[in-house]
Amino acid sequence: MSSSEILYTTKENAEWWRSAVIYQIYPRSFADGNGDGMGDLKGVTARLDSLVELGIDAIWFSPFMLSPQKDAGYDITDYKQIDPLFGNLDDFDELLKAANSKGIRIIVDMVPNHSSDQNELFQAALKAGPGSPERDMYIFRDGKGLFKRKAPNNWPSVFGGASWTRIREANGKKGQFYLHIFDSTQPDFNWRNPKVLDYFEDILRFWLDRGVAGFRIDVAHGLIKRDGLPDTEDFSTEMGGSKSDDDLTIEQLERKNPYWGQPEVHAINRRFRKVVDSYDDRIMAGEAWIMPLTRMAEWVRSDEYHQAFNFDYMFAAWSKEGQRKSVDRSLKAFGDVGAPSTWVLSNHDVIRHATRFAYNDGELPPQGDGIGAHFRQPDQALGLRRARAATSFMLGIPGGAYLYQGEELGLPEHSTLDGKYRQDPTWFRTKGKRVGRDGCRVPLPWEAGVGAANGFNTTGESWLPQPDTYRALARDQQSGVAGSTLELYKRLLKVRKELGLGAGTFRWAPEFENENSLAYVNGNVAVISNFGTDPVVLPKGEILVTSQVDLSAEGYLETDQTAWVKLS
Ligand code: NOJ
Repeated sequence: MSSSEILYTTKENAEWWRSAVIYQIYPRSFADGNGDGMGDLKGVTARLDSLVELGIDAIWFSPFMLSPQKDAGYDITDYKQIDPLFGNLDDFDELLKAANSKGIRIIVDMVPNHSSDQNELFQAALKAGPGSPERDMYIFRDGKGLFKRKAPNNWPSVFGGASWTRIREANGKKGQFYLHIFDSTQPDFNWRNPKVLDYFEDILRFWLDRGVAGFRIDVAHGLIKRDGLPDTEDFSTEMGGSKSDDDLTIEQLERKNPYWGQPEVHAINRRFRKVVDSYDDRIMAGEAWIMPLTRMAEWVRSDEYHQAFNFDYMFAAWSKEGQRKSVDRSLKAFGDVGAPSTWVLSNHDVIRHATRFAYNDGELPPQGDGIGAHFRQPDQALGLRRARAATSFMLGIPGGAYLYQGEELGLPEHSTLDGKYRQDPTWFRTKGKRVGRDGCRVPLPWEAGVGAANGFNTTGESWLPQPDTYRALARDQQSGVAGSTLELYKRLLKVRKELGLGAGTFRWAPEFENENSLAYVNGNVAVISNFGTDPVVLPKGEILVTSQVDLSAEGYLETDQTAWVKLS
């Protein structure tokens, strides 16, 4: 690839989402307004100014709808109600108004693959009996074998165990099985039934009418199951199946894993898009956890989703090759369908990147498993240094960026969380073999020493305890402190906005590299990361921002550091 080749240029007058920085709030853990130990909407409203200061463009909320919370809200009983844990619709309207008045848009999570088993549609399906229209809203099947005792096929649940549960029919006898790709409390809808689409169109409009800027669509790759529900050959429990299948064609992948990425799902994407497009300026971001990227890119063709989370980049190794290859693949795959790439390093389903990067590629358990006290504990200083460098590398690349709450504080995973606190269904379904995702979902520290949860509230209650390290990382300990991770994020976002880097152009810049560093240029800003032990000489110009504390213009860029230089 020649050095001057421009790999990405933002189109003129690009829509807001093509370059936006979207901040994920996990409502249970952002800020607790009523002191009960669970974050809530009033807590968010009270802390909005901190997000204005940070410099984000939009918030994506993980679900806050009515739910028995068997999967932290990804199990919804009523899609049009707020769970009382978080407040009510008035609180939401107030929050939306306050956020919009500060220039922040709000995207909400939509969970169409499955509902809670408490949802009235599922309850009606249980009552109505085999062959009824009510049952056809979900995926019920007779069992196989003697007494129909065996599950209809061999699909595993992402959270461990089987993905089928047998019910008792109204007459008290053992009856049909229903499918749940996740927990048994999360029955999968039957998206081959048009009534399911009607149900969700109405819900989408409900939230769009309220003024949300759009949706993050959960399990966007899983809505359609292969006709006939054939056995799977892929027993990976990662959210999108096994990742090492690059040699297979898309048709082979569709056959290998009959519940991820089936071709008919695209017709549903298009129907969602029509609804969203009937309002101004709204978007859909798909959790299409599907590899390779050329396949994921099918979800963001111009009449489907606007964005898809770039999981290839999320899991790219912190190495020159790892980063370069993933960026190349991303710009090519998304560029080929006219979509901007997204860039993301953390979310509520993966080990926080300040901990992930303390390990080498291949050393961590698969996505969804998490780190427990029995696992080799991370070198936190190493992880944080690399995380700061990686975020600095990521935020200079054009496209949409996603941040996960707490990464701006450099929070590590809670990697020694005691089993007695754990709530992830993975923990229960595997009897603690896989510890699950709670370690990245711990409440945020705001003011050091204010209650046991460092200002998450004033009572000290906390649905998950913070590790001791969170106190020193509390927001008030970093605010205004030169070199802190919070100030680094603020500066990155400020410069990114001022120079329009989110909507810029991208080319690699080998002229600024040595063997172990990687450089690119966006507009007239060079971004250089050093992965090796030899220091790197920076190009001439003004250092705009750097992960390396006290780096001067004449200085050298050290190991695991990134600098943005305005070329002179
Ligand atoms: C993906 C969500 O991000 C995750 O948290 C959830 O457990 C599953 N989908 C099921 O909804």
